[in-house]
Amino acid sequence: MMKAFTWAALLVTGVVAMAQTATFDTTTKVFRLNGGNVSYVFGVNERGELQQMYWGGRLGAEDTFPQAKPMMGWASFDSPYTTTPQEYAGWGAGLFVEPALKVTFPDGNRDLVLHYASHTVTASGVDVVMKDIERPLFVTLHYAMDPASGILARSATIENRGTTAVTVEQAAAAAWALPAGHYTLNYLTGRWAGEWTLTQETLHPGARVIESRRGTTGHQANPWFAIQAGGPSEDSGEVWFGALAWSGSWRITVEQDQLDAVRVTGGFNPFDFGYVLHPGEKLETPVFYGGYSAHGMGGASRLLHHFEIAHILPHRIGTGEDAAPKPRPVIYNSWEATEFNVTEAGQIALAERAAALGVDRFVMDDGWFGQRKDDHAGLGDWYVNPQKFPHGLKPLIDKVHALGMDFGLWVEPEMVNPNSDLYRKHPDWVLNFPGRPRTEQRNQLVLNLARPDVKEYVLDFLDKLLTENDIAFLKWDYNRNWSEPGWDQLPPAEQKKVYVAFTENLYSILAELHKRHPKVELESCSGGGGRVDLGILRYADEVWPSDNTDPFDRLSQQYGFTYAYTPQIMMAWVTDSPHWLNKRSTSLTYRMLSSMEGSLGIGADITKWNNEEMATAKRLIAAYHQVQRTIVQGAQYRLISPLNGSEFSATQTVNQDQSQSVVFLYIHSTQEGRLFPLLKLKGLDPKADYALTSIEGKAMPDTPAVASGAWWMNHGLQMDGDFRGDFQAAAFRLDRK
Ligand code: GLA
Repeated sequence: MMKAFTWAALLVTGVVAMAQTATFDTTTKVFRLNGGNVSYVFGVNERGELQQMYWGGRLGAEDTFPQAKPMMGWASFDSPYTTTPQEYAGWGAGLFVEPALKVTFPDGNRDLVLHYASHTVTASGVDVVMKDIERPLFVTLHYAMDPASGILARSATIENRGTTAVTVEQAAAAAWALPAGHYTLNYLTGRWAGEWTLTQETLHPGARVIESRRGTTGHQANPWFAIQAGGPSEDSGEVWFGALAWSGSWRITVEQDQLDAVRVTGGFNPFDFGYVLHPGEKLETPVFYGGYSAHGMGGASRLLHHFEIAHILPHRIGTGEDAAPKPRPVIYNSWEATEFNVTEAGQIALAERAAALGVDRFVMDDGWFGQRKDDHAGLGDWYVNPQKFPHGLKPLIDKVHALGMDFGLWVEPEMVNPNSDLYRKHPDWVLNFPGRPRTEQRNQLVLNLARPDVKEYVLDFLDKLLTENDIAFLKWDYNRNWSEPGWDQLPPAEQKKVYVAFTENLYSILAELHKRHPKVELESCSGGGGRVDLGILRYADEVWPSDNTDPFDRLSQQYGFTYAYTPQIMMAWVTDSPHWLNKRSTSLTYRMLSSMEGSLGIGADITKWNNEEMATAKRLIAAYHQVQRTIVQGAQYRLISPLNGSEFSATQTVNQDQSQSVVFLYIHSTQEGRLFPLLKLKGLDPKADYALTSIEGKAMPDTPAVASGAWWMNHGLQMDGDFRGDFQAAAFRLDRK
């Protein structure tokens, strides 16, 4: 047993403290990472394999593990190689569960068995080198644990130190393991205009595959999972969760094996994958983040939200807190008001109205460039359309600045319309298989960003745009997925490299732009929420969750979104009613309060708003500004779910020092006169007094103006009896006295 935590004692007992978060016991060959309330333990087992041993609540400092023992095999059908939860198993030696790595050597050998070789201490964890039992194929597993949240970043570097090329056919970032048990799996699915559907199911033996084969993240599934012990619960119970930081084709396989143990393996999608590693070359996998909470799904998402703000989202200019992600400016966006019909005069008219509302940032959407009249032409030709803007963008930008707002612009850099000068000049620049049709979607093709010349073109035009114009923000769109993913510049055997090189070049363009224009903020949009993941979020300050701006649909989408992502990045516009998608009519107040649950924007044709609408929006934008940081960066509690036809829903956020809280309450459709349920709040300081102030709506008349946190949490907030009807909303703030 390890007693005193001194260097001398550590050395005597054979335990070497490697860094703040990691220890390695040289006797038992056990690695242990600690952070937040989490411990993650793995070791070199008696066979030389790297074996996962524990992932869960933080263990005592003096607790020790004996050397890892491989699991027993199961009769003559499942060997220990398959039953043992390996950290990163090569496909070989009769492995029947999902491999982390599968390769083919030029001599036809496809057997790969990785054993521990060495390890190195890093500042935040450990790098463990593994090697095939016979060939010079090396894999370095990287582990870095966040000391505050216990969220563990894992990835792998695959290196060919041999003299012949090796083809990597499958490469995961990491494999996570849970012991045999009864679990519920949560993941997010959807489609265009219907993203962020929370899907929950009991885990059964077999594999559940969540993936994108589209070349990009996709609307249909998001690279995030959460597994809860037992049934689903928002507030209690153990949850293990993970999010993959990759914006290309990806796959997460959640597998309950033949002995009921669970493994989650995720990384590059092995479908159509084939990465040739020449001698001396390396392949870096994306990072797969994993975390643990003992406080249900709510606890898991609160950890993830804070981690994203602190460690994933771009930190802009300045240092420390100064550079930390700020609450988003309240934006106006022109898309739903004008679509492609943008003109200098029309945009100025919108900007004047937006400024009168108290908007901070004016964003001109699609339509300003090339010969762009509709979605048939112009993509690729990034010059300002001279008919619409005869004097360039400057007069509009100057006007927006004079109105006290900053200026943002829409771009879709990775795309081209066949009807464009760029395509006429460079038809070979798109993803294609020579001689085969080039399938268009929205009349556009995907530029092959993996090509160095395409990468240079995209970086140059964006750099020029940002250098020549005073632009604070780019909405970076991506409106189709791949087809015919050929890259005919490379030999046939190497062309599948496009799945890695495209996304790496995207990241490198974004990194270079960040370097050259550090103040310019970015939104990731892909026809709504088609490119939201922890990879793009290292460069994007916010995302567009969905083209569906119906305020009622948005409540469910926003609910699902927050399982994986912070409201800080969740842009939500107020648009016109009746809504174009559902033909639903809702009040402006309801629309405002639906959007105020996230990062507020306005996307309606505000030139048509009457005085009363202008006044309502202005009042609520001002109220939002006062409490925005609490809403988007506070600890979020999903109090009542809007899913499954729920009559009511509610969310609450509490700021970091528990001095302020904001509550949103929504009625879908009152039935049988039922009143809004007594709402027990969460996360307040029970001993502090809080004053309740209405942002919109009334509490029961005898509700105390000031009461303790204990009162609000135990007794709860009762709404006034008039709070009934269809599509109703209310909001309150609580401030510590
Ligand atoms: C995508 C975006 C929209 C808008 C249009 C413009 O659909 O999601 O918000 O920018 O493109 O063409």
